[in-house]
Amino acid sequence: MSRIAYVNGRYLPMRDAKVHVEDRGYQFADAVYEVCEVRGGRLIDERRHLDRLKRSLSEMRIAMPVTVRALGVVLREVIARNRIGYGLVYLQIGRGVARRDPAFPLPAVAPSLVVTARSLNRTKNDALAEKGLAVVSVPDTRWGRVDIKTTGLLPNVLARQAAIEQGARDAWFVDKDGFVTEAASSNAWIVTANGKLVTRQADHAILRGITRMVTFEVVKAQGLAIEERAFTLDEAYAAREAFVTSATQIVMPVVSIDGRTIGSGKPGPLAGALRREFHRYTETG
Ligand code: PDD
Repeated sequence: MSRIAYVNGRYLPMRDAKVHVEDRGYQFADAVYEVCEVRGGRLIDERRHLDRLKRSLSEMRIAMPVTVRALGVVLREVIARNRIGYGLVYLQIGRGVARRDPAFPLPAVAPSLVVTARSLNRTKNDALAEKGLAVVSVPDTRWGRVDIKTTGLLPNVLARQAAIEQGARDAWFVDKDGFVTEAASSNAWIVTANGKLVTRQADHAILRGITRMVTFEVVKAQGLAIEERAFTLDEAYAAREAFVTSATQIVMPVVSIDGRTIGSGKPGPLAGALRREFHRYTETG
């Protein structure tokens, strides 16, 4: 079965799903995106993702191309047409097509909208969570507004590639003061040597993950506390547990950082519990 993508008003087979060469998303990464989990064919946490999308668009001063309601219909249609049971749906909105010039097009052009979806292997994801990830640290060389979910992901691309080339799975960004910001496509968490659950505060230096937000609720329901603060790489090396959160990985244990074993070297009990409980706190649409 050919995959189907939505491109500016049309559902097209992947091979015909094309954007213009002067699309500003292509030339300047002048675009924002969202990735939502699909589970049992249903969209997970649509409201929270679309709220963040609206914020990204407003920070970038890009107009919403369709209503939120219409966007919900398109997301569901792409999930259905691709018969996604378990997987992800990706949406991207760009400032549109115009002759190449960094300044906003004047008069404004229609923003572009692309939606794709793909299946993920749940068994494989769960097996990975049983094993845990090895990560490496890399300097955080990103711009100062990574709280906006733009498609400008070159440092993330290079970080992930560096991790793979070192035999690891993912990368953790470290700022110039030695504090971990987040992972290449997820938020970073540790359980410190004295048992405190810590994740960086959501300022302009990290993306305010939806999975991070829901994990806060899971943690609270367990009667545990979270320290929302920056933590150093050294604190992470000495942690009892480490994990990352994202829409596609949910709660994914980290078992080594820069070749140093974290805790017992096995996924930690808290990460496991949060992963098991997670979907009791999501909204399914
Ligand atoms: N990434 N930080 C970064 C840099 C991310 O790219 C992501 C998500 C997150 C976690 O956000 P959320 O919990 O809302 O998925 C944090 C998506 C999954 C991606 O780029 O594929």
